[in-house]
Amino acid sequence: MARAYTGRKKIVSFIGAYHGSTYGAISLSAISLNMRRKIGPLLGDIEHIEYPECYRCRYGKKCDTCDLDCLGSFKKAMATYLPPEDIAAVVFEPIQGDAGLIVPPKKYVKALYELCREHGILFVSEEVQQGFGRTGKWFGIEHFDVVPDMMVLGKSIGSGVPLSAIVARREIMEAVDAPAHLFTMSGNELSCAAAYETLQIIKDEKLVEKSAELGK
Ligand SMILES: Cc1ncc(COP(=O)(O)O)c(C=O)c1O
Repeated sequence: MARAYTGRKKIVSFIGAYHGSTYGAISLSAISLNMRRKIGPLLGDIEHIEYPECYRCRYGKKCDTCDLDCLGSFKKAMATYLPPEDIAAVVFEPIQGDAGLIVPPKKYVKALYELCREHGILFVSEEVQQGFGRTGKWFGIEHFDVVPDMMVLGKSIGSGVPLSAIVARREIMEAVDAPAHLFTMSGNELSCAAAYETLQIIKDEKLVEKSAELGK
């Protein structure tokens, strides 16, 4: 959808990211050689950049005083071999989950977001692991005061009943014309009923607030 909406080809993801094991999702992922070995060629036009990791800063800097060297490699890429006008989207986990629950600094996320804005790149928050209260807010990205263009949802959306979802502004969702992206099981009634009840329970029982409290 990001490609269709922007008319651009490239997608940027992160080293250490895990987005799933279907063909497109594993092409975006960069966490395990065995997950990518033997099944290629994978989807093209995906670039992986480094995820910020303050706890083991590769540049030996302190988070509160650094100049975001970790974003520098992306900027350099865009200045040398990765034309920003070719990038449709940046797919970002608000906490990098399977890589070790790495929490990025707020100033990095804001700077990345601004960079996307500057170049007309869609900012996608991948909330499959962090969504639905797991970080003390409904969605992980809410901790960073940025509003993503698209969100990817899964896991706890259906309390264990299989369901995933893409959420985006209408004009992005409508960038592909029907019957594109059609599946036998999309909108599956059982999964949707489970998700509906899940959302009600999270709201009624104030589970997001409870998660924030327990987290503290
Ligand atoms: C951040 C993230 N995205 C996507 C996935 C893949 O979800 P699924 O296994 O439902 O395809 C996972 C699974 O662990 C995940 O942690």
